[in-house]
Parts: sequence; C-alpha cells; structure tokens
Amino acid sequence: MSEAPFLPYGRHAVDEEDVAAVAAVLRGDWLTTGPTVAAFEAEFARRVGARHAVAVNSGTAALHLAAMALGLKPGDAAVVPSITFLATANAVRFVGAEVVFADVDPETGLMGPEHLEAALARAEAPVKAVFPVHLAGQCVDGDEIARIARRRGARVVEDACHALGTLDGNQPVGACRTSEMACFSLHPVKTIAAGEGGVVTTQDDALAATLARLRSHGMSRDPAAFENREFAFAADGAANPWYYEMAEPGYNYRISDVNCALALSQLGKLDRFIARRQALAARYDALLARYAPRLKPTGRMPNSVPAWHLYQVLIDFPALRAERAAAMRALAERGVGTQVHYIPVHRQPYYRRRYGEIDLPGADRFYARTLSLPLFPTMRDEDADRVVGALAETLGA
Ligand SMILES: Cc1ncc(COP(=O)(O)O)c(C=O)c1O
Repeated sequence: MSEAPFLPYGRHAVDEEDVAAVAAVLRGDWLTTGPTVAAFEAEFARRVGARHAVAVNSGTAALHLAAMALGLKPGDAAVVPSITFLATANAVRFVGAEVVFADVDPETGLMGPEHLEAALARAEAPVKAVFPVHLAGQCVDGDEIARIARRRGARVVEDACHALGTLDGNQPVGACRTSEMACFSLHPVKTIAAGEGGVVTTQDDALAATLARLRSHGMSRDPAAFENREFAFAADGAANPWYYEMAEPGYNYRISDVNCALALSQLGKLDRFIARRQALAARYDALLARYAPRLKPTGRMPNSVPAWHLYQVLIDFPALRAERAAAMRALAERGVGTQVHYIPVHRQPYYRRRYGEIDLPGADRFYARTLSLPLFPTMRDEDADRVVGALAETLGA
C-alpha cells in the first residue's frame, strides 16, 4: 500500500466553522423546518439568481417534486440523457411517465441538440419534459435545448446536481434562464454538503408554491385555497387555526434545520471551493496534455464556466492495451481512488426490460472510456501530480 493518504474521487470539506454552525442549531429550538431552512433557501436563491429555492432532503426528491410540479403523469414521456445518475430517469418513472433516453456527445458526455431531436423523433408518447444533465459541472447548450423542447410543447428541468457554482454564459446555473426548474444535490461529494439534501430553484411563483406543498404531504394552510369551507372557516369567517387541506398527496421530503445549518455554512465557502476545483482541473489539464489522444480530459463546452464537480478523463484502453477494472484496482493500491460516471442508464436491467434494446452509440463510447480522477477542495497540487503520475504509469501511457 501507498504511504501517502488515500485520495477518494470526491469528498466533502467540512471545517470547525461548519461544525459550530451545526452545533448552534442543535442547541436551539428547531431541529427541522425552522428558520435555518428558510435562511438557507433565501441565500441559495440569491446566490444562483433565482426567485425561489425550495430545499428538500435529496437531489432525488428535488427531481421527483419537479416532475410532479410539472404535472407529468402516466401517458406522458420525458427525455433524459443516458449518461447520468439513475435518479434523473427514475424521477420520470416515479410519476408514471415514460423515459425516452437520449444519446450524448462521446467527448463531453452531454446531451446535445441533435441528440434531443433524435430522442424526440423516437418518442411514442407526447413528450412533456426534457431533463438535460450538466455532467461534471459543464452546461449543456441550454438555449438550443430549450428552443427544441418548447417547439414540441415540452418544458425543461435542469439536472444541475453537478453544477452548483457553474456559470452558463454569464448566468449562474440555477437562475433558470432556459428552464422551468433546476435541481441540485447537497450530497457530500457535491460542491457543498448538507449530509443529504437537495434544492429546486425556479423563477415561477406557482411552481414554487406547488413544490413547497408537495414536499410536506401536499398540505396547504393557505385560506385562499381551501375547498372545504364548512371545515375551514369559523362562523365569523376566520380560518380555523388548526386547519389544513390536501388537494393532492405529497411526500415528506422536508430537510432539517440541522442539515441546512451545514449547507448554509458551506454556501459561504462556495467561491473558495469553486476556485480550488477550477485550479485543480487546470492543473490536471496541463499535466495530461502530453498523453493525448490516448489519455485526455473530456471535451469542453464553450458556453460554460464549470465549477467542476468531477474531473473525468477519456482513456483509449484498447490502444494502451489496458483494462479499466485492473487499472482502477492498481490505482487504488497506490492510494488513488477513481470512479466511473456513469453506466448508461438505458443499459440498466429495469429500463432494458421496459424499453428493449436502444442504440445510443455516443453514450456507449463515453462510458467505455471515462474515468473520474480525485477532485475535492482540500486536495493539494502535489496530490494532482501524484494522481497523473500513477495513472500514466499504471496505463503505460
Ligand atoms: C446527476 C445526478 N442527478 C441526481 C442525483 C441525486 O442526488 P441525491 O444523491 O442527492 O439524491 C445525483 C447524485 O448522486 C446526480 O449525480
């Protein structure tokens, strides 16, 4: 085993200030759905330039509620790129709609306009939504995706779980410039951590109200919305103080004040985290330049300034006479953690059984070559040097 500390592909950066922020909430009056949730939502919305941020207890819950808020239902379809985490596609299935998997660019792993067009041409049910994924923190071409989606009458939900802090042109991801909603994850390997957590941002007041209702059982305490007037109001016309109503069942997807204390404290360090991630990515780019084309960074999108959640390389394993699983094991032996993001979701047994064999060559080609190298804000420059040295030696590059 290596003497140097093990470098995982991603990890949180929690400091004493974060610990103190969480401890202060634990000593206070609210453990859940108190003032810290609201403070975190306000700061998150401000940070990404959205009118509303609705915090929930995971990125998966964020995607599910976004699908519900759009009214996606059985008989509808939604386009999801195949290179993503399971949760993007599963959110569509949670509401009974069908997933139309889109291919991706084999160099970036991102769904492009041509892949969306091809998916729309294959769809057998009316496509009501498109879920572009900003893989690794790079943005899709949001303008083109939105133009194509709108022409088909579909709405756009960004899976921005990797992209907190990324700039799309000069707008932060989450400002929903080209979408109805954007969904974020606050899982510890993401740009900021809450433990478990997620956020949906939107510029739309009605969507925000629906999201907030659905995250807490579908309960409403808004007298203007009450239907059962005989239960809701006293003889003097005032709303009964205990009264709530449910027009549609929701979930308990609430996030706690404890988690939001960590997330709010972490949000204050976001600029620092982004700068460190960007500096490490630039260092990796420079260190890897001499190994192209057999070992190289993923392709770059001209439209975004990524906060880089992941640092992914593309490796031509056959040309190097190497094998990915063996390389990953050898790297782990040398203290270098790696991961594969992602197995194409259309290849999962559940989706294969449901939709049969689909030919998405870009997704297969990206998957065959991709490997995520360690990237997290507390990594040192020498760590990146060590990773590339170990990788080049392991692959014989
Ligand atoms: C692209 C993408 N979508 C959705 C999710 C789900 O987020 P969470 O783990 O917070 O539920 C993740 C997180 O792994 C993700 O990477």
